[in-house]
Amino acid sequence: MSKCDVGIDLGTTNIKIFIKDKGIVLKTPSVVAIKKNTGKLFEIGKKAYEMIGKNPDSIIVKHPVSTGVIVDYELNKVMLNELLSRVLNKSIKKARVCMCIHSLMTNVEIKALTETILSSGCEKVFLIDESVASGLGAGLDICSLNGAVVVNIGGGTTDIALISLNGTIISRSIRYGGQHIDSIILKNIANNYNLLIGVNSAEKAKINFATVNSPKRSIKCILKGKDMLTGLPKSITLTQCDMYNNLRSSFQKIVDNINDVIQEAPPEVLCDVKNNGILLTGGGSLMSGLPEFISKKVGIKARLADHPTDCVIYGVGKSFDMIDNFNSNFVRMVM
Ligand SMILES: Nc1ncnc2c1ncn2[C@@H]1O[C@H](COP(=O)(O)OP(=O)(O)OP(=O)(O)O)[C@@H](O)[C@H]1O
Ligand SMILES: [Mg+2]
Repeated sequence: MSKCDVGIDLGTTNIKIFIKDKGIVLKTPSVVAIKKNTGKLFEIGKKAYEMIGKNPDSIIVKHPVSTGVIVDYELNKVMLNELLSRVLNKSIKKARVCMCIHSLMTNVEIKALTETILSSGCEKVFLIDESVASGLGAGLDICSLNGAVVVNIGGGTTDIALISLNGTIISRSIRYGGQHIDSIILKNIANNYNLLIGVNSAEKAKINFATVNSPKRSIKCILKGKDMLTGLPKSITLTQCDMYNNLRSSFQKIVDNINDVIQEAPPEVLCDVKNNGILLTGGGSLMSGLPEFISKKVGIKARLADHPTDCVIYGVGKSFDMIDNFNSNFVRMVM
């Protein structure tokens, strides 16, 4: 047994780190701010996220991961090494690290990711599918389950998997998640109200006010930004109904992909899928009214996991038990 088991969920929006016997030790936006002239790290995590849209010219603020794919390897390495050293100090040298990946990632991307982790000096690296990890972390007994659909909606990707008897029968990842919903809100406000708002304001409106089921006129939200015609500050008041249709259609892409997975399901497991239902995990599944919306559209009951944003990282943490019991159909070792 290694001295330290470390789970990492490197998400488009957030990075989470789990240490066995300690639990989740870090959860922060996967954002980095660097100084333009020197390339040196300026801020990381929440402080860097808060700089988005407000940063001076001398500072670049970036997400190293976009739609589930590492878009800036150097920056990603800086971010991972800095955060790992903050939570682990020198114990990384004896650590086994498990990371989640999704089916969209190419072998080249997986290799680059594992090389980045290995460069931190850890002993071994394991990989697990994000949707499998989310089911495991949500408490599903994935080794004996007779067919259930797990949908993990993140910031940049949505992973859908049909899991049955110790394996994934069908899995599908799409480059579509909460951040796309934010930009749809942003565009909608710009097109319909000539108001330019920041991406963080669009995300806040989505989280605190919007719904995709039974909207109410009495629930209102004030949005502040820049008048696109005059260039001056402007604010508008919207009701939940004003955003409703636009939002519902933006979740249709996820519904279509769930339907595709269910249609591909072998007849033997379809009844179990119907009984076990669809389990929703990931931060994006916290969208108000989403379980009801998906249940109605797909015709199979969808339910929200407990602590949806943490399911993946808990599952990555639990995967070490499977590795130790040689029950590793779901986990593969790369070194
Ligand atoms: N209450 C909420 N309602 C709607 N969306 C929410 C809510 N809370 C969080 N989100 C959204 O969840 C997303 C982040 O979820 P999560 O942390 O699971 O993503 P991630 O793992 O970083 O991304 P990915 O798995 O796609 O790489 C963000 O888009 C955020 O806006
Ligand atoms: Mg994720």
